[in-house]
Amino acid sequence: MRVLSGIQPTGNLHLGNYLGAIRNWVRMQDEMDSESQCFFFLADMHSITVHEGREQRIRNVRDMAAALVAAGIDPDRSVLFNQARVPAHAELCWLLNGTARIGWLNRMTQFKDKVGKDREGASIGLFVYPVLQAADILLYNATHVPVGEDQKQHLELARDIATKFNTDFGVDLFTMPAPIIPKESARIMSLRDGTAKMSKSDPSDMSRINLTDDDDAIMQKVKKAKTDPEPLPETAEGLAGRAEASNLVGIFATLSGATPDAICADFAGKGFGAFKPALGELLVETLRPIRERFLQLRTDDAALDAILDKGAAKAASAAEPTLRAAYDAMGLMR
Ligand code: ADP
Ligand code: TRP
Repeated sequence: MRVLSGIQPTGNLHLGNYLGAIRNWVRMQDEMDSESQCFFFLADMHSITVHEGREQRIRNVRDMAAALVAAGIDPDRSVLFNQARVPAHAELCWLLNGTARIGWLNRMTQFKDKVGKDREGASIGLFVYPVLQAADILLYNATHVPVGEDQKQHLELARDIATKFNTDFGVDLFTMPAPIIPKESARIMSLRDGTAKMSKSDPSDMSRINLTDDDDAIMQKVKKAKTDPEPLPETAEGLAGRAEASNLVGIFATLSGATPDAICADFAGKGFGAFKPALGELLVETLRPIRERFLQLRTDDAALDAILDKGAAKAASAAEPTLRAAYDAMGLMR
């Protein structure tokens, strides 16, 4: 088993990133046997699709590294690095640009969502973003790729590229990666609107819980979260059509490990006035240790850079045989 995943180092982490992505990475790392390996990286080469000043970009990479370690990624057990330190990603991306088809990329819904009406003004980088992602995955012969639901299409593209490359050059080089998409906690919704996903790009800070929010801020946000006047139902079925209520119960269930049915049974007939303090408490207790470790780790840039340097060296040597074989398969002398 080769587990690999990446996250763009853009801005602060929030509860959606933690429950939808990072917590699953930590679980997979903790369940690994000695034969298996985990690669987790900061997709800083992908982040050039978002304009950012030099200093901010450097800060973002170190902060995201600190956040991942704080959340439980152990740089001694998992390979933790940033893409820019491992040039094999950019090199394989270029080789795969000969294999990927414009028609395939035209179908990518994330690209369409991100460019909106201004397709002509979008960067080429944003268009070929999924090819770099395919390179990230195929370089390490990843078998399992834990991602959010929104990345499923990019994984399918990586498989299509792998198949076409193997066929076109008559090799058996790239391994087919499978997405690992958690059923529960796949989508944490905004605290202000149960139909929009919790996101760092939401202009309202009250819509999300950031990993840097202190205990009081978390409590305040939960207490002010949008709900409806109905009491909690006996079973989760009774949450149908109640987006905000269903999101809060979902968060409680994910954090506590109990099912939404069990949470409803516990709070049946009570209003959100009773439920919210319990949810707030659970969030505070879960996030406090992560926040404290994060704030401490981010004070030591040299230590963070040392972690990333070590990870990059391991990643580069793991990637080298595949990269070399790809050049060779194409008849490119290196
Ligand atoms: P954002 O929407 O805040 O910009 P990103 O797109 O950078 O977040 O997502 C980083 C990772 O976190 C991805 O793996 C994504 O699937 C996951 N993720 C982001 N928001 C949520 C959410 N609201 N619920 C569950 N997972 C999420
Ligand atoms: N595109 C992913 C996201 O937005 C991040 C990413 C880049 C990634 N390369 C990857 C995820 C490789 C999994 C595997 O969340």
